Amino acid sequence: MSEFNNKCVIVTGGASGFGKAMSEKFAAAGASVVVADLNIEGAEAVAGSLDQAIAVQIDVADEEQNRNLADAAVDAFGKIDVVCANAGIPHRAGRAIEMDTAEFDRMFAINTRSVFLAAKYCVPHMPAGSAIVTTSSIGAKRPRPGLAAYYAAKGAVLTLTQALAVELAPNIRVNAICPVSAPTGFDQNASGMAELSDKVNAQIIAGIPMGRRATPEDVADATFFLSSNEAKFLTGVCLDIDGGRAIQ
Ligand SMILES: NC(=O)c1ccc[n+]([C@@H]2O[C@H](COP(=O)([O-])OP(=O)(O)OC[C@H]3O[C@@H](n4cnc5c(N)ncnc54)[C@H](O)[C@@H]3O)[C@@H](O)[C@H]2O)c1
Repeated sequence: MSEFNNKCVIVTGGASGFGKAMSEKFAAAGASVVVADLNIEGAEAVAGSLDQAIAVQIDVADEEQNRNLADAAVDAFGKIDVVCANAGIPHRAGRAIEMDTAEFDRMFAINTRSVFLAAKYCVPHMPAGSAIVTTSSIGAKRPRPGLAAYYAAKGAVLTLTQALAVELAPNIRVNAICPVSAPTGFDQNASGMAELSDKVNAQIIAGIPMGRRATPEDVADATFFLSSNEAKFLTGVCLDIDGGRAIQ
């Protein structure tokens, strides 16, 4: 019997990339999973491939839709035990001072306000012993050129995660993950290309001591750990999943 049997896990951004791998990881451990995404066809495809899962459409930046997500989870599974506030999006890479101000604001709405709203509407349904895991980025700690607004929004996620951790302790643990670059839908949004060129790939890998980019499974494994009883004394942790990228 797994500790995740009869547990309800919400994964935002669950249709693709990290969120898809998280949904699959929790489902394989016996959890009931709420696969939440703007892309409802993708969310339905993931949920349909899992034993006990539902798909919910949400724009994570929208307050009412966050309320609806929490209600849908409780209607389906009775409570909420784990929230993976994972949905997020980068802007097209470029110099910060040439960026549209509206695009800067959009980064904070989708990447940061979403975490606040997920906590606001899910926490009232979360019993003692529950966990929230937020998806930040290693660039929040060690920014490199090109994604300033995105990294700033993810930096705010780290502060929000730690502020929530102190407010919600000891009942609910709140931790963040800081992944390094991984080949997901992120590449398309940041570069305009579904697959990076060999040259760009090599440049990224040159900065990662472990010699490769992250995989969605690397990220799902760390999220699973932070949600589990193995991490019962961890809160406010901002865990690097970066193959050593932040050391340099
Ligand atoms: N891949 C990377 O290199 C990388 C590195 C560090 C952090 N991250 C972060 O990881 C998280 C997951 O991204 P990914 O790499 O799996 O990319 P992805 O594009 O494969 O997945 C993101 C998912 O979020 C959904 N989404 C986008 N905007 C949304 C919105 N407003 N409301 C609801 N859903 C929305 C998309 O439909 C998609 O299914 C994001 O927060 C991202 O910023 C990614």
